[in-house]
Amino acid sequence: MPYYRVAGDVPAKRHVRFRGPDGSLYAEELMGEEGFVSDSSLLYHRHPPTAIVKSEGLADPAAEVALAANHPLLPRHFRTHDLPASGDMVLGRQLLLANDDVRISFAAADADSDLYRNSGGDEAVYLRSGTAEFESVYGSIAASSGDYVIVPRGTIHRWLPGSDGVQALIVEARGHIRPPRRYLSQYGQFLEHAPYCERDLRGPTQPLLADGEDVPVVVRTSAGLTRLTYAFHPFDVVGWDGYLYPYAFNIADFEPIVKRTHAPPPVHQTFEGPNFVICSFCPRPLDFDPAAVPIPYNHHNVDSDEMMYYVGGDYSARKGSGVGLGSITLHPSGFTHGPQPGAVEAVIRGLAEGKTTTDETAVMIDTFRPLLLAGPARAAEDPEYAWSWASAARGRISPPAADQGPGF
Ligand SMILES: [Fe+2]
Repeated sequence: MPYYRVAGDVPAKRHVRFRGPDGSLYAEELMGEEGFVSDSSLLYHRHPPTAIVKSEGLADPAAEVALAANHPLLPRHFRTHDLPASGDMVLGRQLLLANDDVRISFAAADADSDLYRNSGGDEAVYLRSGTAEFESVYGSIAASSGDYVIVPRGTIHRWLPGSDGVQALIVEARGHIRPPRRYLSQYGQFLEHAPYCERDLRGPTQPLLADGEDVPVVVRTSAGLTRLTYAFHPFDVVGWDGYLYPYAFNIADFEPIVKRTHAPPPVHQTFEGPNFVICSFCPRPLDFDPAAVPIPYNHHNVDSDEMMYYVGGDYSARKGSGVGLGSITLHPSGFTHGPQPGAVEAVIRGLAEGKTTTDETAVMIDTFRPLLLAGPARAAEDPEYAWSWASAARGRISPPAADQGPGF
């Protein structure tokens, strides 16, 4: 997945002699998942992709971040706008939450990253603000606010933020991140009921054909970070084809699925990874049965922790909770969560006044193992969040007004 693409020049058959204008053979590189029995792409380099001249161990800032269990148990609220804004999209990541399946970081980056290869798993990078050029061995993708960029394991790439910098949530998986299986035909085509399809995905269209010698690449493995210096620039590809490549999908292209009464989060699912899912909450009509309670019911996800990143729209329905744009909440297993007290009546009043849509946008990650808390998250935590439902229920905080949205 996602589907077959070709960029640049490739020969008519695989593994035949393919020469450049000077008569020299191009060097093949097969990037293949799961041995040779899953998706792959075949790339043609001007120079051997095997030629390295130096290997150095690097200090891994992520490995030095202390992780702590969510104990004593609490729902959490982290203000990403309180985190430092500097660095790049690779080594400048600020780890927030992690378990053995996934690591979730925030970056507010204004500098170009090194060339980088994550050999531990796929990455999903969600850009909340700004623009960035994503350059890779497959070519480049112009990324901007609202884009998820899916980076397959092993892809050498780098991030070049625009002049205003970029804020991003970065999900590092211990395996592959893919569209949900139920959206796909047995051969991988998006089905008609899927909330997005191939036309919404943007992959590289042309290889970069970069020149250079002695080019360093930061490689992440389970053992840490290594700087491998390549004799020739890894972006020396003249062409590639296959099913494995990075691609972007903008959250605004997600077609929301609505019901007469409230639909649960699986209708918002966008990607799946090993032991986690990623969902997109997008602007949509409110539930439209005349008797519907048009916002979420209180719920207890007995098998998962739920992280929500509030990225667009009006979150004043969470009035009293402290949640706003750029906030991240963590609602763990063991705790029942739901709208702020008073929000249901507020939205019902809003419906009567003609407010029949919600403009909120959020990215949700549900993990099926508990998330541990990293130091940067603790530093940006709002200590009052856990008590906000009780404060509202006891009337210490005014309930939301009628023109405010529904929350989650
Ligand atoms: Fe929830």
